[in-house]
Amino acid sequence: MPDAPRHQTSLAPELAIAAHNVTLTLGSDKAPVEILRGVDFEVEAGTSVALLGPSGSGKSSLMAVLAGLERANGGSIRVAGLDFTAMDEDELARARRGRIGIVLQAFHLLPTMTALENVAVPLELAGVADPFGRARAELEAVGLGHRLTHYPAQLSGGEQQRVAIARAMASEPAIIFADEPTGNLDTATGHSIIELIFARRAALGATLLIITHDPELAEHCDRVITMHDGRIKERAA
Ligand SMILES: Nc1ncnc2c1ncn2[C@@H]1O[C@H](COP(=O)(O)OP(=O)(O)OP(=O)(O)O)[C@@H](O)[C@H]1O
Ligand SMILES: [Mg+2]
Repeated sequence: MPDAPRHQTSLAPELAIAAHNVTLTLGSDKAPVEILRGVDFEVEAGTSVALLGPSGSGKSSLMAVLAGLERANGGSIRVAGLDFTAMDEDELARARRGRIGIVLQAFHLLPTMTALENVAVPLELAGVADPFGRARAELEAVGLGHRLTHYPAQLSGGEQQRVAIARAMASEPAIIFADEPTGNLDTATGHSIIELIFARRAALGATLLIITHDPELAEHCDRVITMHDGRIKERAA
């Protein structure tokens, strides 16, 4: 009897990120700084990837181009099925919406808005139905149901980062980018934030790219990638 067909072995896995020969040069014409020097990098949908490397090696810059916050100078970038290479800044901003969630070291909450408004207003601008209901549910999911009307200045660092995580996850993105999300927090708070990011990512089935200096956190990820001087080196996780 012939073997039963194997499960999708002939199909390539779906890629959340496909970056090829990506270059980024900033600075002035007289003093250009080559920041990314030909990055090749693919991430399968649904996997978690830790991005390590020395300070100044280009980790945040790489994340910025992959998240559509910065335009690369050369190479090709496909993220969440979209070709970022050909997009201008407005198109990138639209492309991010609902597809990409971003969590940074400095929480970047709007100081004049409550926790609830910080999460709800971007949803409202994106035309999502019931933005305040969604925002409330997302804040409850990160353990902040009792802090909805607090302003950022009235929240601890860990609580502010939880609001930022709720904001990043509320639109149910396919890909989450996190740049040293525990860098401003004490160790215990940092651990709870990491657990939260992994839990929310699992609930969404999202791809995760996380920049960290913490080898223990890197071990939690499916893959570990190291940057050196604007290029990537990978080792098996
Ligand atoms: N706008 C800019 N103009 C010129 N050089 C820049 C600019 N932004 C970043 N750089 C340089 O690019 C290099 C990479 O910076 P990047 O922030 O990506 O590093 P990183 O790996 O994230 O470092 P860290 O671990 O300290 O956060 C650094 O040498 C930095 O000085
Ligand atoms: Mg950085």
